[in-house]
Amino acid sequence: MNDETISPSLISAILNARKMVALTGAGISSESGIPTFREAQTGLWATYDPQELATPQAFEEHPRTVLLWYQWRKSLIAKSEPNPGHLALASLEKIALQKGQKFTLITQNVDNLHQQAGSETVIELHGNIFRSKCAQCQRQPATELPEVTAESELPRCPFCGGLYRPDVVWFGESLPGEALQRAFEKSNHCDLFLSIGTSAVVQPAASLPLMAHENGATLVEINPNPTHITPKANYALQDKAGQVLPMIVNRIRNHLS
Ligand code: OAD
Repeated sequence: MNDETISPSLISAILNARKMVALTGAGISSESGIPTFREAQTGLWATYDPQELATPQAFEEHPRTVLLWYQWRKSLIAKSEPNPGHLALASLEKIALQKGQKFTLITQNVDNLHQQAGSETVIELHGNIFRSKCAQCQRQPATELPEVTAESELPRCPFCGGLYRPDVVWFGESLPGEALQRAFEKSNHCDLFLSIGTSAVVQPAASLPLMAHENGATLVEINPNPTHITPKANYALQDKAGQVLPMIVNRIRNHLS
């Protein structure tokens, strides 16, 4: 895609929206070097079994394996930086707020890169890999936890003795209630919805774009590959988020200057 293939009507729709929502998935962080989940060959779930690593049962049965895997992912993410896609979304939020538009960013990512890019308000649906919590009483540790090794003691909560785990959502778990409620509320009432870098297969996040569309919002998808929401999208921009989002923001800036 190049600048000219972005339709002027899409730019107008963004400029005229009153309430915008953007939902992001692993695809937006792939250009920062963080693997997605479901892409053939490169996706994490092509190599690793989610049932063995991302469920409460897996943590009960082999907590060290789970903790070591999350520690590996965390170190990979810690070395990564926000890419032009993250930065463009942070700019879009700023422009929207200056224009008096509402803008809500909802992410399924746990990597903190939107916050690092400068996005002010981020609804995290699947938690954050840089936080931990007690698997029993849910309290967060007061200080940073020591690294886990093949032999080390596993870190435990001083209040109840439960094991600390990453504060992310695992398969079979409920999403954080307040975040989910806000995500539904914002998606229900928006007039423009951007679905970016998500395969849109994991519920309940996957239902947000379609729900917004059914309520009359213009649906925009940014993803190099088609998904099951592509046929419903008013605009399907089939390229990388790090390419498309900066082009959109430039066009908007040019229009406003
Ligand atoms: P997936 O791995 O399912 O999908 C990533 C999507 O990003 C795919 O549709 C790719 O085509 C697209 N993509 C790849 N590179 C891109 C790029 N540069 N720009 C835009 N799009 C690109 O990841 P998610 O949809 O985020 O949950 O997966 C949702 C949830 O499933 C995750 O939060 C995680 C996972 O299991 C939990 O761990 C609970």
